[in-house]
Amino acid sequence: LVIRPDWLVYLDHAATTSVESKVLEEMIPFFSRDYGNPSSLYTLAQTGRKAVDEARDRVARVLSCRSSEVIFTSGGTESDNTAIKGVSLALKSVGNHIITSAIEHHAVLHSCHFMEKLGFEVTYLPVNQQGIVDVGDVEKALTDRTTLVSIMLANNEIGSIQPISEISSLLKQWSKIKNRNVVLHTDAVQAAGFLDLDVSKLGVDLLTLSSHKFYGPKGSGVLYVKRGTPFSPEQVGGGQERERRGGTENVPGIVGTGVALELAEEGRGRGSVNCRLLQDSLIQGIQDMISGSILNGHRIKRLCNNVNFSFVDVEAESLLLALDMAGIAASSGSACTSASLEPSHVLMALGMTAALARGSLRLTLGRYNTQQETDYVLSVLPGVVKRVRDMSSRSVQHAS
Ligand SMILES: Cc1ncc(COP(=O)(O)O)c(C=O)c1O
Repeated sequence: LVIRPDWLVYLDHAATTSVESKVLEEMIPFFSRDYGNPSSLYTLAQTGRKAVDEARDRVARVLSCRSSEVIFTSGGTESDNTAIKGVSLALKSVGNHIITSAIEHHAVLHSCHFMEKLGFEVTYLPVNQQGIVDVGDVEKALTDRTTLVSIMLANNEIGSIQPISEISSLLKQWSKIKNRNVVLHTDAVQAAGFLDLDVSKLGVDLLTLSSHKFYGPKGSGVLYVKRGTPFSPEQVGGGQERERRGGTENVPGIVGTGVALELAEEGRGRGSVNCRLLQDSLIQGIQDMISGSILNGHRIKRLCNNVNFSFVDVEAESLLLALDMAGIAASSGSACTSASLEPSHVLMALGMTAALARGSLRLTLGRYNTQQETDYVLSVLPGVVKRVRDMSSRSVQHAS
């Protein structure tokens, strides 16, 4: 009998994070006390308007952009949809070709599939075995009809960091030669709090963020759109967000986003050092103690909070359930569909077999994880992997 301990080692920060107490504190007045609609004229409403404006300034400071270039959305999925559809539709008289990568989040991939149904052509670039896009491949894919390139800043499953500023330089050279701009969007959802989000250093025209990945509220996000970028809004209605995103503003969510992003940026340097130490000890420990373990993604060019392994002869679902019983919350690269356990499109893009992709474990560290916790994980994981392997070999014997 396994008794679940009464503590939790949370290692799924790429899925979501808790709302930081300071963030919650700043949000609370806007639910019931300062609840006015920011579009109204009386004082109660203007308190909300001022808070939204302040949050926009906070986000703009982190991104080093103008406040007017920040649009608040309902999260990463909406920002990605808006970026892909909004730019490609606005530029459809110029061209109908989009370039993206095979390892994007489904919010990007499914938006691209949607555009294909409308007659657009999409190139899904491959990645190398470490999960990194080759800038040369972007160059080869460019055509006179290309209007938009969308490549994520860091991958959500394997943490691999993409060469966005190099892609931006390539597009700038191309634009000069062709005398026509190609717009660059990056999904930076997993990068906030870990990488520099300065949009001019990155050289991007659009950038997506999701607040619940950096200790802000769920259902809130940001889309940065550089001034002058051709863009048709996805969501129309009232004229909110300067006619770029209709709908009454989610004032508490927006306030939380501003504070959370500012805190994430303030703690970035300090936090990364601790995060890297914990990451190193997990990677080293797993490699040393568990035979048949394969690190997925680049060893260095990866987010400092991401650890992703495939284990030979292991089914991720059983592993995750066993880890849950041991008080460890983790995830796998596989998306469970009702009919079958689909191997992750990201791991398959690395050239991995479906069987190995199904045996993957993603541990993502956060602000409050400690060495004691990673030591605990390393003390139980080898035994858990062994048990799962023994169980699956027994069930194979029974079946044969
Ligand atoms: C890279 C990436 N993009 C987009 C999203 C979607 O964000 P949201 O949950 O805010 O819709 C996620 C969420 O996991 C993500 O990891």
